[in-house]
Amino acid sequence: SDSAIGIHDLSFATTGFVLPHTALAEHNGTDIGKYHVGIGQHSMSVAGADEDIVTMGAAAAAPIISRHGADQIRTLVFATESSIDQAKSAGVYVHSLLGLPSATRVVELKQACYGATAALQFAIGLVHRDPAQRVLVIASDISKYELDSPGEATQGAAAVAMLVTADPALVRIEEPSGLFTADVMDFWRPNYRDAALVDGQESITAYLQAVEGTWKDYQEQGGRSLEEFSAFCYHQPFTKMAHKAHRHLLNTCGYDTDESDIKRAIGQTTACNTVVGNSYTASVYLALAALLDHADDLSGRPVGFLSYGSGSVAEFFAGTVVPGYRAHLRTEAHREAIEGRRLLDYAAYRELHEWSFPTDGGDHPTPAQTTGPFRLAALRGHKRIYERR
Ligand code: CAA
Repeated sequence: SDSAIGIHDLSFATTGFVLPHTALAEHNGTDIGKYHVGIGQHSMSVAGADEDIVTMGAAAAAPIISRHGADQIRTLVFATESSIDQAKSAGVYVHSLLGLPSATRVVELKQACYGATAALQFAIGLVHRDPAQRVLVIASDISKYELDSPGEATQGAAAVAMLVTADPALVRIEEPSGLFTADVMDFWRPNYRDAALVDGQESITAYLQAVEGTWKDYQEQGGRSLEEFSAFCYHQPFTKMAHKAHRHLLNTCGYDTDESDIKRAIGQTTACNTVVGNSYTASVYLALAALLDHADDLSGRPVGFLSYGSGSVAEFFAGTVVPGYRAHLRTEAHREAIEGRRLLDYAAYRELHEWSFPTDGGDHPTPAQTTGPFRLAALRGHKRIYERR
């Protein structure tokens, strides 16, 4: 059934630096075909020393606040799996940087890459209860694996901010959802590590099992049939994963598949993720940004969303693109965010990868590197100090 609640505005931001996969391939002797074709990645966003999930999240949300004001925003939900504090929500720093009213509820949510979809569903629930309320959802992550590990080529970083309202201008989110949870150890990050651990092949199997599980539940809940969808936005740890997932869905529904069917269904959704890399919670909404920015007119058309978070939790749901949506897009700003990144060579990338604050609670200013609107200026007395540039 149609819901009149959904995504009213969507804006993304990424880091100030980019490493092309050609530089990584040259360093480790990998055939570039494995990266460009095998996993479908061309470059990855890399965070400068003064950039993190807060500076990216605030940069993504700032244009939304300038366009719509902060008046009716009474809740900010921040989804991440690369959290910077075990207690305080990253959203509180963003709330401060954006100057949001004190009469706001702020919280951080976590379930690997699935967190932003939980945030979106919570936001819809709140707006359903009070249609005058607007909820700011921010998904922000830096994906980091060990140097020279198989996961390294899938690193990336980005934040997506979404304003969730009644009578949205971009996408109406529908009921029902298909849900799936399974206790698997495919990807995790213990509290004492800043790089994730992953069982690569297990994670792909777990993802595909979740696609099947969510779709089965979505059908049982009375969801749309496969043929009704114009496009599918998948969580994209690497863009080839969206191909694998869609092929699996088509096979589950009894279709033989060729690559052109898959390209038609997901082709426009990979444009950002292939140059930004894995942005974890933001990834599936980066797929939506790419679709809206680059596809032919989708007015009135249903789009399928598959949100997957390792561990694992997944949700399949539909959204209908609102007629007239194109007047509200941020295509140019999104292009600039991607094209404005500064190119790293392998040595400079490695230095950033290895950079971290000492943990002595002293005064540790960060080098001024970001070109974004906000920066992490220092760690002082164990406190993260942010500033507007
Ligand atoms: N030209 C073209 N293709 C090539 C090639 C070449 N020269 N060399 C290899 N390939 C292909 C391989 O055939 C393979 O394709 P298929 O999967 O279609 O068979 C692909 O390139 C990758 O090759 P490998 O499987 O040998 O690669 P790998 O073992 O080194 O690592 C990976 C792949 C497991 C995905 C690894 O990058 C990884 O661990 N990534 C992190 C985990 C991850 O992203 N998992 C995804 C699901 S979990 C999830 O979604 C949550 C999340 O965000 C983490």
